[in-house]
Amino acid sequence: MKGKVCVFGSFNLDVVAVMNRFPMPGESLTAHNSMMGPGGKGANQATAALRAGARVHYIGKVGNDDFGTFARRHLEKTGFDAITLFTCKEKPTGNALIYVAGDDAENMISVFPGANTTVTAAEVSRCQPTVAAADILLVQLENNLNAIQRMIDNARAGGTFVILNPAPWQKVSDALLEKVDLLTPNSTEAMQITGVKVTDFASAQKAAEVLHRKGARQVIITLGMAGALLSNAEQQPLRIPLFPAQPLDTTGAGDAFNGALAARLASGDELPQAALFASAFASLCVERSGAANSMPSYAEALARMQAHPECVPEPLEVMA
Ligand code: RIB
Repeated sequence: MKGKVCVFGSFNLDVVAVMNRFPMPGESLTAHNSMMGPGGKGANQATAALRAGARVHYIGKVGNDDFGTFARRHLEKTGFDAITLFTCKEKPTGNALIYVAGDDAENMISVFPGANTTVTAAEVSRCQPTVAAADILLVQLENNLNAIQRMIDNARAGGTFVILNPAPWQKVSDALLEKVDLLTPNSTEAMQITGVKVTDFASAQKAAEVLHRKGARQVIITLGMAGALLSNAEQQPLRIPLFPAQPLDTTGAGDAFNGALAARLASGDELPQAALFASAFASLCVERSGAANSMPSYAEALARMQAHPECVPEPLEVMA
């Protein structure tokens, strides 16, 4: 069963340098590999949702420049049901400079969002029927906040389930968090929203409680190598395991998780099963280089789940 996912989010042109270690301030360091390709949290998550089996409508905005032309050509051949790609005359297409280094293939990213932050109220209005027709609206925070808020309002008015991946973090009101059906921060973003230093499941649970008090009903906090915490204001929290992987490039791992999660929820999975699938999907993404181009297929993620029957959601003790 294919569900409909609408992803509103950024497109960036990613330039990646693979290093033995991260450079220090003031240091020039030779990279041993480099590539350029499609990225941006929105486009990556849309690609992940598509590869995980959803029918996807991607909404984004690029500049009137060569990178914008590259974006349009790339997105048109990706296989989305539809794309709505607005063009900005004043600002260039977003870009990201990414370092990948170390045994765990960690990354450091600087993003210049450019055209991604120029989405107007009129452009949001034009997307209203698309958003209302979707099972799920998936958004991040790499666009201008007023456009994100309007998209979420339109989704709610149309009865569309809203997932907010609050990355990269920019301050949003508690009123916005209340409108979101599922919030998916990583440990850093959870700390930025709540002020709770998130290092393990116990601290993640404390952060989740703060998020529930702020109005977020369902929360998944991703915890890197530890897996993820699924917390619902009413039910016992669950630990979603990380699947074994050989990391090559962790860029886009969070996007893989969010896109796959949206795809499985849109197809009717319950949240714990959708999160488990998303974890398997993300474990395959980190074994490949790049962002949008590193997303695995539905079948590959299913095979990884079947290869690791020990990886199941586990109930966690409720913290006193
Ligand atoms: O999440 C990875 C993405 O973050 C990269 O593709 C980059 O463009 C930034 O948006």
